[in-house]
Amino acid sequence: MFEKKLLQIAHPRPTDYEGLVLLEGMEEDGVILSGRAVSPASGEAYPVKDGYLDLLGRRSGADNVANLTNFLPGAGKGYEPLWRVRSLDILTGERFPNEREVEIVSGLAGVEGGGVFLDLGCSAGLYTRSVARILRGRGSIVGIDISPSMLKEAARRAKRLGASPSFARADAENLPFADEGFDGALCGGSLNEVGDPGRVLRETRRVLKPGGRLAVMGILRAKTKNGLRLQKLTSAGGVRFFEEDEIRSLLSHAGFETDGFRAFGSVFFAGGVRR
Ligand SMILES: C[S@@+](CC[C@H](N)C(=O)[O-])C[C@H]1O[C@@H](n2cnc3c(N)ncnc32)[C@H](O)[C@@H]1O
Repeated sequence: MFEKKLLQIAHPRPTDYEGLVLLEGMEEDGVILSGRAVSPASGEAYPVKDGYLDLLGRRSGADNVANLTNFLPGAGKGYEPLWRVRSLDILTGERFPNEREVEIVSGLAGVEGGGVFLDLGCSAGLYTRSVARILRGRGSIVGIDISPSMLKEAARRAKRLGASPSFARADAENLPFADEGFDGALCGGSLNEVGDPGRVLRETRRVLKPGGRLAVMGILRAKTKNGLRLQKLTSAGGVRFFEEDEIRSLLSHAGFETDGFRAFGSVFFAGGVRR
């Protein structure tokens, strides 16, 4: 599913300054359910199938082993029930339901003000569908991920909830969107997994309007011996863990003013405003 009006900010190549247009397909209430969008500039076609617009084609976008595990066929289906529903309880050491974190990131990203939002590395779409429900008629959200398995599940879960966000297969390090196309962005855990977090933040800044807000949830470097041992193991797969100063520095170097930083156990929530 992809909102037809958002095709104008889909710029998979720098020459796609007019965006994409729908070539053929099925739509319902302004949402493309299946079909093909095409670039008038390059003539290249991009399919909408399995619930998302595929702007990556044959490229995997994966940088490390951790990314590749998200391509396994059952990864999307298992992600939320097996991990995500309890992940912050485990990582913070306190009761931390998904609704609580959604409230925090939505506040940091300024979702209440409406507009067009981007969810970077959306996995099975927890933030994307939750924000779509908050927005209802006051804006739009696009969830992007490189994993087909995650995106297919994200679209299924959103549909089940009666929400119609847009989903696209896209690389957060090379965002296929117009400069200043979004009012806000959210990033839940993905900065820990991408190959180049600085690049993702710079790309996010590019696609945000001046004053646009970014909300990041992520995992800090452990403070205990056991925690550090565990993090060392996952680091081998490409996952990284941050110090608070590192997050502030990454945001600042990418052109964001840090606006809010809270830590709960090893989980942080950081807000940024695009300078
Ligand atoms: C920790 S999970 C994200 C969880 C999700 N945001 C949530 O709140 O449930 C990281 C996700 O980032 C995706 N990912 C990794 N590298 C990416 C990239 N370069 N561009 C887009 N998505 C990426 C992975 O496929 C994975 O689904």
